[in-house]
Amino acid sequence: MITLALSKGRIFDETLPLLKAAGIEVLEDPEKSRKLILPTNQASVRVVLVRASDVPTYVEYGGADLGVTGLDTLIEHGGQGLYQPLDLNIAKCRMSVAVRADDDYAALVRTGARLKVATKYTAIARDFFATKGVHVDLIKLYGSMELAPLTGLADAIVDLVSTGNTLKANHLVEVERIMDISSRLVVNQAALKLKQAPIRAIIDAFAGAVKKD
Ligand code: PRP
Repeated sequence: MITLALSKGRIFDETLPLLKAAGIEVLEDPEKSRKLILPTNQASVRVVLVRASDVPTYVEYGGADLGVTGLDTLIEHGGQGLYQPLDLNIAKCRMSVAVRADDDYAALVRTGARLKVATKYTAIARDFFATKGVHVDLIKLYGSMELAPLTGLADAIVDLVSTGNTLKANHLVEVERIMDISSRLVVNQAALKLKQAPIRAIIDAFAGAVKKD
């Protein structure tokens, strides 16, 4: 049995065409079913639905043989124990710093005072500001980061930006682009050895179907 870990939403939807290229079709729609294990047209392949931030953990410990996860999640996890053969070029967005539209970010940084930064992505934020030589106090949040500068909880946020609509709706502006984000295929290293042929077939089919920019 080959088990593939996916998260519902954009990653699931954008992985379907890649699975199709590997001859795999998921037989149930996760938006209509409460099932967490979804069968496919291949009796030896199944999909498990997990929280996006749990995909690397499932694959690391062998709860799934393969998974699709955002680069953001992968960096925060650390990537240990994971073979990362492919950038799938899907679920693209960017990781950015944003502040209130009426704040002067350059001035905030220039004062040399510690910048209060709220984020779910503490590893990425810590690295980024350390490289810039900016001292920060990181405040860990699990969602709705946009609220933090509006309520005085933080001076800035580090968050994913796609269309920019969420920032705009909350009167925030993107002031630094930290990195481009896309989803990666991750593979359990032991599974790659033990189930080499079927896993290689999936990696190769995905590689052939990845859309280039
Ligand atoms: C992400 C991110 C922003 C939003 C940006 O949240 O945290 O809130 O998308 O998208 P936009 O630039 O197109 O408006 P997501 O919906 O993935 O949920 P999350 O808060 O659970 O991360």
